[in-house]
Parts: sequence; structure tokens; C-alpha cells
Amino acid sequence: MREIAIINGPNLNLLGVREPEVYGTETLQDINDSMLDLSKQLGLSLRFKQANAEHELVDFIHQCFHDQISGIIINPAAFTHTSVAIRDALLGTQIPFIEVHLSNVHAREDFRSKSWLSDVAIGTITGLGSKGYEMALRYWASEN
Ligand code: DQA
Repeated sequence: MREIAIINGPNLNLLGVREPEVYGTETLQDINDSMLDLSKQLGLSLRFKQANAEHELVDFIHQCFHDQISGIIINPAAFTHTSVAIRDALLGTQIPFIEVHLSNVHAREDFRSKSWLSDVAIGTITGLGSKGYEMALRYWASEN
């Protein structure tokens, strides 16, 4: 069975309490539980990672490479706008990935419009809330 990694960056462990008017009221556990249910329907296997530290995300991406993961769904959170290290990890491992944001990053502060990942992603989903993760997973299911 193909395996997909779902990676969430800093402060996303606070979903549910963090700025609910921007990010909604679902917790990360709620989102991951829904993803697990969907993955069973779609015949995909999942592994999850949330970290607030950049190096943990880089190390996890390296591990995904060693374990020959098929693809990644990543919400890099604030690292979207700062992290050359995560970009290089994704480029260096050549694992295809989809970038997801809960909020519409283009409708917020200017600095959120700059992503270090979008130009090397398969695609980006932004502003659709947790449905963005679901759509990204459906994409992986449709790809052979
Ligand atoms: C976010 C958008 C980022 O700008 C922000 O730093 C986040 C969450 C989103 O999902 O909308 O932490 O990635």
C-alpha cells in the first residue's frame, strides 16, 4: 500500500484554540482522525508529523526519503515564509509534495504571500480550511 506523510509545522498543535476566526475550531487531532478515515476508503497508508522545530521537520523528511514514502502533504505554517532548509530537504529528497494552508495566505499580511515551497510543489491549496488536506489526499489516491 502506498504511504503518504502528512506534515504540520509550528503552532498547528494549537488548532482549535489558535485564532479560531482564521483557522477554524477543529483540532489537529480532529483533522488527522478524518484523514485516517479517508485514507482507509482511498486505500492509502498515512504517517503524521507535527513539530514546532525546523530541524525536526527536516529530519522527518529525510526519514520519509529513506522509507520510500510516495508523497507528502505539508502545511509548513510559518516556515512557509522563512525556511530554505525545508525547501532544500524537499528538493534534496525529490519527494513530490502538495503545500496546504488552512487560511488564504494571499488574503492576509503581505509577508504570507511569499512561500519558499510553492514553486517546487506539485500544487498548493490555500484557504479551504481542513478540506485542503482532504483534497490533497484525494489527489494522491488518483495518482498511480
Ligand atoms: C498557515 C498560514 C501561515 O501563514 C501561518 O504562519 C500558519 C498557518 C495556514 O494554514 O493558514 O501558521 O500555514
